[in-house]
Parts: sequence; structure tokens; C-alpha cells
Amino acid sequence: MKQAFITGTSSGFGRGLAEELMERGWRVHGCSRRPDHPRGVHHVCCDLTEAEAVPQRLEALLGEVSELDLVVLNAGVLGRIQRLVDTPLEEVKAVMEVNLWANKTVMDWLYRWGRPVSQVIMISSGASVLGNKGWGGYALSKAALNMLARLYAHEFPQSHISAVAPGIIDTPLMDHLCEEADAEAFPALKRLREARGSEAMPGPREAARRLLDQLEAIRRRPSGAFVDLRELTDPEAYARLYGHRS
Ligand SMILES: NC(=O)c1ccc[n+]([C@@H]2O[C@H](COP(=O)([O-])OP(=O)(O)OC[C@H]3O[C@@H](n4cnc5c(N)ncnc54)[C@H](OP(=O)(O)O)[C@@H]3O)[C@@H](O)[C@H]2O)c1
Repeated sequence: MKQAFITGTSSGFGRGLAEELMERGWRVHGCSRRPDHPRGVHHVCCDLTEAEAVPQRLEALLGEVSELDLVVLNAGVLGRIQRLVDTPLEEVKAVMEVNLWANKTVMDWLYRWGRPVSQVIMISSGASVLGNKGWGGYALSKAALNMLARLYAHEFPQSHISAVAPGIIDTPLMDHLCEEADAEAFPALKRLREARGSEAMPGPREAARRLLDQLEAIRRRPSGAFVDLRELTDPEAYARLYGHRS
């Protein structure tokens, strides 16, 4: 039976990935701060920003596992959409703690764990390269995550590592983008609001299917690469997105 480890299985995309993998016959190990997770996931509660405590939690979760076919470093936070000059440094650092440094903690643990890991996907975002106004700490953290994938690719020669932008997904993270943030001040929000409720913004389960169906195609890219899933699944949307920056 294939085995996956996914961070952030309590909600949104991570939850959808866990459900879809189990439907496809995989054993799924997951973690998140909240105890909620789909039935069947082998789960531990873990705040991934507590670097000292994480190794013990991961040992409890994965100590009996002999190898992993897939690791998805999915846990992430958005922070507020606002001008960088209005964003307190503490807020940017808090986003970095989850979206960047927590993933270093997990990768370092996997290295010391020393068992085979076939493929690692770090969940990035189009925001990592688009640089749209207002995306501050989130864009910085995901840009740094893309480099984290490149750097670890040297150190995990037996694993395929990539930073993957999954496209827009209708999850609780979207609530701030679609309901609270100022779409007049930050025009990139308009595209998201138009897309919500349409095929252009799938739910977590459909987004999970789209990613999992492309695992082999992603593996054909060099280890360490950034891949925007839309380049593989919807080249026209990909061209529109990267040709249109605000
Ligand atoms: N939604 C989109 O359109 C979109 C687009 C591009 C990329 N992404 C990326 O996709 C990933 C998942 O986002 P989502 O949209 O599914 O958001 P979400 O529904 O808010 O889920 C985020 C997950 O991360 C976990 N998490 C957050 N902080 C954590 C911490 N300190 N320790 C452990 N787990 C933590 C949460 O669990 P707990 O709160 O229980 O800890 C939750 O399971 C993120 O990396 C996000 O940047 C999303």
C-alpha cells in the first residue's frame, strides 16, 4: 500500500488530498493543530512552528513507517492582504514561521529519519512569482519556499522535490481574500471574487484530483523546480494569469 504524509489535514486542500488519496487506496499520515481530520487518516496534533516539539510528534506519527511515496508540505497561512508598509514585521514573521520555517523543520526531520521518500511536494502559490500588490508576507514566504525546494533538492538526491502552485481553491483561506480584503485597493482580488463559485475555483477534493493526476508529469521536471499546476492542466489560464499582473 502506498503511503503519504501530508501537513495540514484538518482543513481545505490538505483535507481534500487526504480524502482523495485514501479513496485511491493510499495510507495517509497527517498533522495539524486541530484534531479534525478525515476518518481513516493516521493523525497527530502538532503545531509545526514549535520546532523543538515537532521531531517528537513526527516520530510518534511516522516511527513505524518504513518509507513514504509522497510527502505534501501543505500547511500554510495567508496573513492579511495589505500594503507591506502597513504590515507590522511581526505579522510577516508569523507567516514565514508556518509557510517557510516549519517546512525546514519537517525536511530536516525527514533527512535524519533516513528512510526512503520518493516525492516531496511543497505547496507554493502563483503569489510566489506574481508579486501582486498587497500579497506581502504571503508572497515573500512562498517565494522563499520555492528556493527551499531548490536547495533541498541538492541534499535529497534520492527524492524528487518540487514547489507546486496548485491554482485557486475554494477553502477557508479564500474567505479573507473574497470577503474581507479591500478589492478596490488590491485589484488582484477581483479575479478571485469572480472565480469563486465557478469551475475556475474548484473545491479541495477536485483540486486534489488535479494535483494527484499530475504527479508523474511533475516528476519529469528537474528536482527542485517550481511548477504552476495550471501550466500542465490549463495552459490558457496559465498564460492569462502570468501575462496579467497588478
Ligand atoms: N486556497 C487557495 O486558493 C490556495 C492557492 C494556492 C496555494 N494554497 C496553499 O495551499 C495550502 C493549504 O491552504 P488552504 O487553502 O487549504 O487553507 P486552510 O483551509 O486554511 O488550511 C490550512 C491548513 O494548514 C494547517 N496549519 C496552519 N498553521 C499550522 C501550524 N502552525 N501547524 C500545523 N498546521 C498548520 C491548518 O491546520 P490547523 O489550523 O488545524 O493547524 C490547516 O489544516 C497553503 O499552503 C496555501 O498557501 C492555497
